[in-house]
Amino acid sequence: MILPESGRTTVSLMNKEHIHDVVTLHKEAYAGFTNVLFGDKYLFNFMEWFASNDHCISLVSLNDKLEPTGYVVGLPLSEREALKKRQLKWASIGLLRRPYLILHPTLVKKVFAFAKSKVFPIPTIRLEPRAGIVGLVSIAVSPSEQGTGVGKHLLASFEINAKQKRFDMMRLYVDSNNARARNAYISMNWTLLETDVESGSIMFTKKLK
Ligand SMILES: CC(C)(COP(=O)(O)OP(=O)(O)OC[C@H]1O[C@@H](n2cnc3c(N)ncnc32)[C@H](O)[C@@H]1OP(=O)(O)O)[C@@H](O)C(=O)NCCC(=O)NCCS
Repeated sequence: MILPESGRTTVSLMNKEHIHDVVTLHKEAYAGFTNVLFGDKYLFNFMEWFASNDHCISLVSLNDKLEPTGYVVGLPLSEREALKKRQLKWASIGLLRRPYLILHPTLVKKVFAFAKSKVFPIPTIRLEPRAGIVGLVSIAVSPSEQGTGVGKHLLASFEINAKQKRFDMMRLYVDSNNARARNAYISMNWTLLETDVESGSIMFTKKLK
């Protein structure tokens, strides 16, 4: 497996020893996001899924003390439903432990948007064949390291891994308000394929073949 080095950043495969630090930096980078509300167990199991699954991609960037400064994870689209099912269990446990979260504005907004999408489904672009597509599910860089090139380094490494795993295409969703992430994908030559005006999320893709 070839993983590039640049300056003081090394990218390595994520292993179980990294997960605690990865969860901590995820909570800092995604402060206020729904998945952070579900608690540490939800996040730990989320990361573990990627780190222990050979056909997924899970990478960490490390500083010169070999401490994680960022991560990126992805999976074949065909496995998305299995991950969702597993995480639903951990999300429910998180909510049962802190039922007051049901009234959290972020969660209320999400539930409302989900219900609306079921009543008034929005036509979306389907990417076929799903088997050849890897979804970049999550990427984050520790806030103290953001803007220093770590994100681009992770994206370049993700792409190398996706090619080695013989995927044809990479795909991701990002909130249209997230200018920093949007710029990072554009600067790594991802193509904006679709904007979902209702949910405010944008789909980017990049062909690998
Ligand atoms: C999005 C994220 C992973 C990018 O990583 P990063 O290390 O900050 O980004 P980099 O330093 O590698 O910069 C990549 C590009 O982002 C853009 N960028 C960097 N800092 C920026 C800023 N303050 N504002 C706007 N764009 C910025 C630039 O276009 C840059 O490319 P360039 O150097 O060729 O101009 C990181 O900011 C992050 O963890 N954000 C919080 C979590 C998140 O939003 N994840 C993505 C959800 S889909």
